[in-house]
Amino acid sequence: MERTCLAIILAAGDSTRMKSSKSKVLHPIANRPMIAHVVDAVAKSDISSVALVVGRDADEVAMAAQVEGVKIETYLQKERLGTGHAVLAAHDAIARGYDDIIVTYGDVPLQTEGPLKAARQGLAEGSDVVVIGFHTDKPTGYGRLLVKDSELIAIREERDAADAERAVKWCNSGLMAINGRKALELLSRIGNANAKGEYYLTDLVEIAHSIGGRVAAVDAPEIEMTGCNNRAELAVIERLWQERRRDEMMISGVTMIAPETVFLSYDTTIGQDALIEPNVVFGPGATIDGGAIIHAFSHIEGAHVSAGAIVGPFARLRPGADLANGSKVGNFCEVKNGKIGEGAKVNHLTYIGDAKVGAGANIGAGTITCNYDGVNKHQTLIGANTFIGSNSSLVAPVSIGDSAYIAAGSVITADVPADALALGRAHQELKPGRAAVLRERAFAIKAAKKAKP
Ligand code: UD1
Ligand code: MG
Repeated sequence: MERTCLAIILAAGDSTRMKSSKSKVLHPIANRPMIAHVVDAVAKSDISSVALVVGRDADEVAMAAQVEGVKIETYLQKERLGTGHAVLAAHDAIARGYDDIIVTYGDVPLQTEGPLKAARQGLAEGSDVVVIGFHTDKPTGYGRLLVKDSELIAIREERDAADAERAVKWCNSGLMAINGRKALELLSRIGNANAKGEYYLTDLVEIAHSIGGRVAAVDAPEIEMTGCNNRAELAVIERLWQERRRDEMMISGVTMIAPETVFLSYDTTIGQDALIEPNVVFGPGATIDGGAIIHAFSHIEGAHVSAGAIVGPFARLRPGADLANGSKVGNFCEVKNGKIGEGAKVNHLTYIGDAKVGAGANIGAGTITCNYDGVNKHQTLIGANTFIGSNSSLVAPVSIGDSAYIAAGSVITADVPADALALGRAHQELKPGRAAVLRERAFAIKAAKKAKP
């Protein structure tokens, strides 16, 4: 029979070391709050219920933890008295009775379901407490796993540790699994006689031993267990997240020439045989289909790039940009809420906002859709196979019919029917010889100035 499981996520801490006006679990990794990454990992661990313990910024943290398809109960830890105290904030959930309890921390955002499942396996095999540990060359700040006769006997917090204990490189990840039938009894025995005067969850190891319970430890990859307590660690975790995701993408068939310069968001998707050149940044909501090319220094957010489309270099795709097959958005172009039709070309120095560009259209350099009147946004419709001359301003709302021509430098304020040529610029005047006259006059003025004493 399947074992029931309650997952408790601790996210009530004061985040003192983060030196921030908001809880650390709200700080983003890959453009998504840290806490949402943790909820995702927990949700994949075959759990029955999720309890989130909140304290500081309770409402914001509860909101940020919302992940599609995951139901979460929140419990308030009114005072911050330590991780052991925090778990007991979810007392009512534990009291409902589960086979397994897993406890995880909101500030360990690279965790995956693997170690959590391994810890649950330990419970299924008869342990009462299963600690998830990791080996590291940089143990500073973590609780150390103390072993005697190859058995885990205690977890010692850094500030409570003796010098010899500090030399230990096997660390506590903070994640653990507890026998759900004994959890309340074990947790109620945690005291606060330590350097911080807090109730440490980590004391469960010694407590379980003291009542004849079984304790085990499982190992997790160091990267997954990296905790975030300050901004320097936040940057390290961001780097590790990016490296992991880029590797996954390259293994799945995406080419990145200089992967270390490409930044992804938590939800970026890139199809097989897409080419991502150096220094490309993906904000949230970017979908790149297979075979697309993203040239260097482009910024893409909330946008869809179809197969065979080419973006950049130096292009900016903002939310609602949708590039059809084989279309091009080139250097110093910005597209916002704009559909670029199949094979259409927007090659240079152009702004397309709140617009539809038909298939095969050619948008000349410097074209601007004037979509905003200072109060409202308006639409520009550009038909298929149109030719928009360079430096044209299309003042929305306006519509350009299929196969129409717009003369360069036009300001278009009225609709243009299909196949028409529209000129919206001053007539050119020609004055033969006039340039030479002007030039002579200018030189004469300069000479007169020099001659003055
Ligand atoms: C904790 C562990 C340490 C482990 C490390 C791993 C304890 C006593 N120490 O230390 O052994 O190596 O994590 O990253 O457990 N929280 C609450 N309420 C509180 C206190 C904390 O909800 O009263 C939450 C925090 O929001 C955070 C998590 O618990 O998500 C861990 O708290 P933190 O203060 O970061 O503990 P560490 O000092 O990192
Ligand atoms: Mg921590």
